[in-house]
Order: sequence, then structure tokens, then C-alpha cells
Amino acid sequence: MPKQRQILVTSALPYANGPIHIGHMVEYLQTDIWVRFQKMLGNHCLYVCADDAHGTPIMLKAQDEGIKPEALIARYHKEHQSDFASFNIQFDNYYSTHSAENRHFANFIFQQLDTKGHIATKTIHQAFDPQANMFLPDRFIKGECPNCGAADQYGDSCEVCGKTYSPLDMKNPVSVVSGATPITRQSEHLFFKLGDFEKILRSWTAKHVQAEIANKLNDWFEQGLQDWDISRDPPYFGFEIPGHPGKYFYVWLDAPIGYMASFKHYCEKNGLDFDQYWGGGSKAELYHFIGKDIAYFHTLFWPAMLHGAGFRMPEGVFCHGFLTVDGQKMSKSRGTFITAATYLKYLNPEYFRYYIAAKLGSGVDDIDFNLEDFVARVNSDLVGKVVNIASRCAGFIHKHSDGQLGSKLGEKKLFDQLAKTGKLIAECYEARQYSRAMREIMALADQANQYINDQAPWVLAKQEGQAVQVQAICTTGLNLFRQLVTYLKPVLPGLAADAERFLNIKPLQWSDAASPLLKHSINPFKPLLTRVEIEQVEAMVNESKQEWANSATPIPASNPNEPIAPTVSFDDFAKLDLRIAKIIQAKQVEGADKLLQLTLDLNGETRNVFAGIKSAYDPGELEGRLTVMVANLAPRKMKFGISEGMVLAAGPGGSDIFILSPDEGAIPGMRVK
Ligand code: 2FM
Ligand code: ZN
Repeated sequence: MPKQRQILVTSALPYANGPIHIGHMVEYLQTDIWVRFQKMLGNHCLYVCADDAHGTPIMLKAQDEGIKPEALIARYHKEHQSDFASFNIQFDNYYSTHSAENRHFANFIFQQLDTKGHIATKTIHQAFDPQANMFLPDRFIKGECPNCGAADQYGDSCEVCGKTYSPLDMKNPVSVVSGATPITRQSEHLFFKLGDFEKILRSWTAKHVQAEIANKLNDWFEQGLQDWDISRDPPYFGFEIPGHPGKYFYVWLDAPIGYMASFKHYCEKNGLDFDQYWGGGSKAELYHFIGKDIAYFHTLFWPAMLHGAGFRMPEGVFCHGFLTVDGQKMSKSRGTFITAATYLKYLNPEYFRYYIAAKLGSGVDDIDFNLEDFVARVNSDLVGKVVNIASRCAGFIHKHSDGQLGSKLGEKKLFDQLAKTGKLIAECYEARQYSRAMREIMALADQANQYINDQAPWVLAKQEGQAVQVQAICTTGLNLFRQLVTYLKPVLPGLAADAERFLNIKPLQWSDAASPLLKHSINPFKPLLTRVEIEQVEAMVNESKQEWANSATPIPASNPNEPIAPTVSFDDFAKLDLRIAKIIQAKQVEGADKLLQLTLDLNGETRNVFAGIKSAYDPGELEGRLTVMVANLAPRKMKFGISEGMVLAAGPGGSDIFILSPDEGAIPGMRVK
């Protein structure tokens, strides 16, 4: 028996301010498959994760919704866990960075680093929003690129010319929070002296990251490791830094510490020794699965922080690429920005698990979710090759052998070959070469189908005295099916559970593929997977398109400094039919975050309109008021019904949205000119 390994695995922590989408899901699948494989081998492998609950975007989103950040993160915590469970992602613990354990470890690590002289204090100059009274993260400033002059660029880099810069160098900057022009203000910040760790990081990276990432790291080492700003000024949703009142840990400081916090929470519940996994010199293996965009944090700051505070460093950081759909970046307008919840309305999660596994290698290349190929692959491999074996053999075992598998195999050589190939498939899983593993498994499935075709039990079954032979062939077929399901189980746990019920066996372990199942009674066969149809995929894409069109309906953030749009001709303007409308009814829309449903009267004609003004108005205060609407806008099908026009409103968003209110005396139905 090989020695049982002690392994702790994590995936990146999703931010608690948005839904899980299929792009995120790639990483959780990659990790989940690896962990399930380790568990099937009999290793002691634990998988922990958490919501990343701190930072400015979460604080502002909560503010926008008029709720406390704690309420926002609680909502996403529930939603994320439900999405993960539906995709069969099996965490041993799912926690939050806004937890007592995380505060404890963040404080501890900071104090250790500080005591050892790895924290510096510097005064820095930053963009400050004088209206919102807060310092602005780069992404909350928009303006013109200082290099090429492109408009509407973020405060850190230009999407047009690719240049990175300081927001203080932008032309005509505007705060996304309030619309005000940012001013420059100074503040004292705390810095982690990353450069102190260059030597240990150079030797660590040589052995613990993929080759592509090691190359990138060499570039960073050559450029010189910069001190890292780990503090933020209020208002900030996060942990206050001990000994520095009014300063908060930057979200990226306590996010990876969330791996420890989640594991500590697990240890407390299950009586495990935390230090055995995280203590300096630990013999346990620690692996982080992440996207390539956050390699810098995980391969420089994080191992340095751990080492500096006396903890072990990770055994491996595994980066993957991004998900594209039909060869392009996921897009809201094309309907390819698909949330986990929308996917689940139309498709079985096992299909996506298989397709992604069939595409995933161990490198950092992007992977493509090609919608037509997805349908073809699932139908041909899973339905046509794997499940088909069971459906071709089960009937004969029930009809001619009373549901009993025979006492020996009709074709032992083939069974042995599948058993032997298990070693290669296991090596592929271990090395995260899932696409290769899937190819090997499907090649074995082809051989199994070929065997059944050649033996044609349906012909023998019609002949006298062939019952034993038919039983031996179908016993072989079902044993090959059982081996294939064993090899696929890390990827397809749902299919495996159904197959285990059908075969009437205990949960399959990796080693089960080495010995056959004989003289055993099986249960009646029920279809294990149905074909996927392209119409299901199209419906999913259509709903996604609709969903994002709806969420874009609410008034886009606008502010007095927003540049005036290009001129339109009078004729174009005259096409708009603006009318005075009376709000005769306003109500909440179940399940909608931002919309109110308005019934508008245009002097006898009523219109149903969904307006993105929920954050600013209670329905009661709107009823009876006059407003202005675009009356000749083509009706739009939205998630919650048809919207027949649009009311005019202005404002930056949140509680600051103002519907236009004509003076008394205006009469519903009057044209606005
Ligand atoms: O990039 C992100 O989505 C981050 N929330 C990932 C954090 S991973 C870890 F460091 F916590
Ligand atoms: Zn530019």
C-alpha cells in the first residue's frame, strides 16, 4: 500500500459581490476533480475555500443597495454555496474572510512581519474624492489616458494603448463614485518589504510553480521587487490594523490568509491539528489552484508573508488560463457571460464538468467553451460511448440471467488492459492533464464498444443454448463500463453515483478497477444521461443576453461632469415621442435587485414599464406622481415581463436617482416638445 498523503487544497476565493459564472467554475472544477481523484486513491485530502468579503467594491455595492456590507456578503455566501453544490463542487469547508479566525491570522502575520522589521511606513499621495470623502482605488477613477488621450479609461491602465500609469497623471479624471473631480491628498501607509524575501522566493519558485509562471517571476525579479502597500484608509470594509487605529488591511492582505482561516474553522470542527499543516517544516502538502491573473499575489506576496511569519510555504501554486466562449472573451451582450445559476436552468452540470475536463491541460493556456463542439462531444463521448455500453448489456442480464452477473468474464484480456491503463490515467490526473486522461478513457470506451459489436449478444440471444455465452459477454461489458466509470468518477461524480446504484455496489474507489465484479446481482437499468440538444444551449445564451440587458436597464451612472454625447440631427431627435405620464401603480418585482414595475397612464392608455429606480424610491411615494416617458420605444422582453417604454431619470445611481417631474398642470398624454 502506498503511504497515505496529507494534502490541503484551495481554490481562489470568489468576491462576495457578484454571482459565480462559468468562467469561475473552470477553476473550481479543476480543483474539485483533483481532490476527488486524491480521495479515490485513499489519500487524506481536504479542500477548503471561502468568500473574499472585504474591500471597496463590496462596501460601495452594499451602500448602493442601501444595506450593510455584512448583509451583502451573507447573501452571496448563501448563493455561492448553492451554485457550487449544484455543480458538485465538494468543499470540506466553505467559509468567509470576514471571520474571527481570519482576523486572528491577519493580525498575527502582520505582527510577526512587523516585529521582524518587514513593515515600513511611508507617506503617499493618492486620488481623493472630496464629495464621497474617500480615497479612490484606481478602478474607481475614469478619465483620459495620459499617453494616447483615449477617453473613458480606468485609473490604472489604458485599454487602447496598453500603458499603465498612476491615476494622478490622468487627464480630466472623474470619480466613478460621485462624479466629482478627484483631488490629490496624502496619507501615511504601511508597506510590506517584499524585497527582503528575494532570495528565498527565487529558490522557492524554482521548484513550486509551472514553467510559464517561473519565467514570468524571473522578469519580476529582474525588474526588482517593490514594497507592497498593505493598508487602506477609511471608509473601508475590512479589518482595522492592530496598533494603527483608522488604518485597515488591504483586501489582498487578508484574502489568502482566508485559506488558513477556513482550514482553522475546519480543524476546530473536526479535531485536526492546524499546525501539522501550516507550521514551518510541515510534512503535509499544500496546493493553491488559481487563475493566471493573480499569480503575482500567490507566488510572491503570499509565500513571502508565510515565510516571514514562520509558516510553511506552499508545495505548489497551479495556475490555469481564462475561459473563452466560441473563441471570444465572455460577453454580456452576446449572452456568453453565463452565470452558474442560468446554466443550471438549461443543462446538466455533469456535461460542463466533462467538457472542461476534456479541454484542461496543466498549463496556463486559455480554454475555449465551443458551444457546438460541447453538444457534439457530450453526445458522442458520454451518451454514445460510455452510457451506451451499460444500456446495451443490462437488458440481456435481466432478461436471460435474472439480473445476475456471470461467474467469469468472457474476455479477460480486455478487462486486464483497462485495468492496466488505470496507472497512466492516474498519472494524468495527478499531473492535471485531464484532457489526456479523457482521451485515454474514451479510447478504452471505443474498445469496449468494439468488443460488444463484435460479440453481438443480440444475435446469440436468439439462438438456443447460448445463454451462458450471452451472460459472459454482457458481464464483460458491464465490467468494462464499471472500470470506465471508476476512471471518470473524479469528473462525473453524479454519473458515478447513478452507476453505483445501477450496479448495486459501494462507492467506487480507484483500486476497484483492478478486479472484476462477478456473481453479483444488479438493479434495473435506468437511462444515466440524456442527449444534450443545441436548442438547450441556445435558450441558455438567450436568457443570459436578456439577463444582462435587464441589469443594464437601470439608469446608467451619470454625473454632471459626464461629457455631452455626440450631436444628433433634429430629425433623429424628433423621432422620440416623449409624453407626460401618470404613475398609477408602482410595485416591487420579485427577484429583481434594481427594478420597480410601473403602470403609467397616458390619458387613457396604460403602459407597463420596468424602471431601474428601486434603490431610490419606495413604490408608495411614486403612485400618483407625474413623470416623462419615451412613449414610442419598441417594447422590450425582459426577464420579468414586457417593458413598454422608459421613464426619464437622472443621477449617479443608488439613492441618487431622480425621475423627471413636470410641474402640476401637465396632463398625462401631453407630448413633451
Ligand atoms: O481575484 C479574485 O477574485 C480574488 N477574490 C481572489 C482571492 S484568492 C485568495 F487570495 F484569497
Ligand atoms: Zn492610452
